[in-house]
Amino acid sequence: MKAFFSAKERAEMLEQVGLNVFWFPSEMITGCDLLSDSGVSTMTNEQWAALHRGDEAYGSNKGYFLLMTQIQKIFGEVFFNDAPARGQNAFIFHQGRPSEDAFFTALGKTGSGMVIPSNGHFDTTQANIQANDIIAVNLFSPDLLNDRSDSHFKGNMNIEKLEKLLTKSATKIPLIYLTITNNTAAGQAVSMKNIQEVAGIAHHYEIPLFFDACRFAENAWFIKQYEKGYNSKSVREIVKRMFSYVDGFTISFKKDGLANMGGGLFLRDNGLFLKKYPRIPDELLNYQIIKEGHPTYGGLSGRDIMALSVGLSIVTKDEYLTYRINQVQDFGETMHAMGIPVLRPTGGHAVYVDVNKFFADTEMKPDDFGGIALTAVLLAAYGHRACELGHFAFGKYDKKAQKEIYPEVNFVRFAIPRLRYEKQDLDAVAEAVKVLHDNRQTIPGVVVASGRALSLRHFKARFEFKQK
Ligand code: F0G
Repeated sequence: MKAFFSAKERAEMLEQVGLNVFWFPSEMITGCDLLSDSGVSTMTNEQWAALHRGDEAYGSNKGYFLLMTQIQKIFGEVFFNDAPARGQNAFIFHQGRPSEDAFFTALGKTGSGMVIPSNGHFDTTQANIQANDIIAVNLFSPDLLNDRSDSHFKGNMNIEKLEKLLTKSATKIPLIYLTITNNTAAGQAVSMKNIQEVAGIAHHYEIPLFFDACRFAENAWFIKQYEKGYNSKSVREIVKRMFSYVDGFTISFKKDGLANMGGGLFLRDNGLFLKKYPRIPDELLNYQIIKEGHPTYGGLSGRDIMALSVGLSIVTKDEYLTYRINQVQDFGETMHAMGIPVLRPTGGHAVYVDVNKFFADTEMKPDDFGGIALTAVLLAAYGHRACELGHFAFGKYDKKAQKEIYPEVNFVRFAIPRLRYEKQDLDAVAEAVKVLHDNRQTIPGVVVASGRALSLRHFKARFEFKQK
């Protein structure tokens, strides 16, 4: 493959892939690829060294035991039983979503008419919940879209709404979910206070509390930095405390695992969830064996598990996190100083451009999907890739009424892969977005050529630019 591609070649390729940036060949991206922070981390030399020591045994490979120790050390011993006689409570999967699939498939069989509230479900989490006829509800913080709020915890759950929901339908709720950090809500962190409050309410109703813990270390860093009383604590201590409130968690290690692959589901030994659903571990075990492999590798190769074990120890270091999140914050502030409407303060893994504000004084209408148009134009003109997480990704088409149902949020996300880019790389992205912002009147909307009514449609749909 050649090393350089012109804007014309990129534009032609974009047309071929129906302006769907997920289908655009990454080799043709001459700028920064900020489509996701998932599975795209640069591994450290310690991780590469560990990878070479991978043990590819079919049963009980060496990495499994190292991972077990690491999980116990970071999250708490209760999340990984090392004595098989005590029953399996830790389940490794090849990434986050099979953990969700296994979990919600098992849970879905325990009743009907269930509802799972969250501070913000991620798209695959929501899809896996809904696939099992469970209703997924988002209870975003009122601070999220409040420009006057300078809270660093706009990812919190709306406690008032949670209480209202519980008063009405507590018996329908098998568990409450907190996504840390809250990817759907602009990557914003959740405060320890919110975690404690939600746990208090959940446990009052005897409902288990779970984390979607993909970016747990970044969340802990925000607590250390911005929440009163935590500055003198280490990230490791804060993580331990955060997890002391939950009855289990799902996680994709492709984010704060610093690994290219991996995921898992961990249930608190003797916790509320296991007390209420004692048969679920057996179901999970069957799922794992049928679909992934032996529970000691769970769909991963031995070398992946080795790299992940080391990754977890690096990603929880205060110095690493300070460097990491400062880079994201600097990128956000650079965009802000250029007049680009980004959600502030920025979160831990990405900068989110507010699409409604970006196009506020133009003719762009909601069903022109300005976010899709912005990602397509940015990729064609400047070779940088970002991701629409807004009207298209989180919205849906009501076939009966023949109209779009829009979500509360409308963002384009610029996710920063871990340990990959330098300041000057991200500055170049900011400059490109600024030029597009300055010329926003000239950016055409898009029409959806196909796939509008599909589930998870942002991965499948095709678009065309509207003629201006
Ligand atoms: N939960 C959250 C909060 C996520 O951000 C993701 C993935 C998952 C679950 C699923 O994990 O990809 O390993 O199956 N987020 C990626 C992203 C894809 O770009 O934000 P997975």
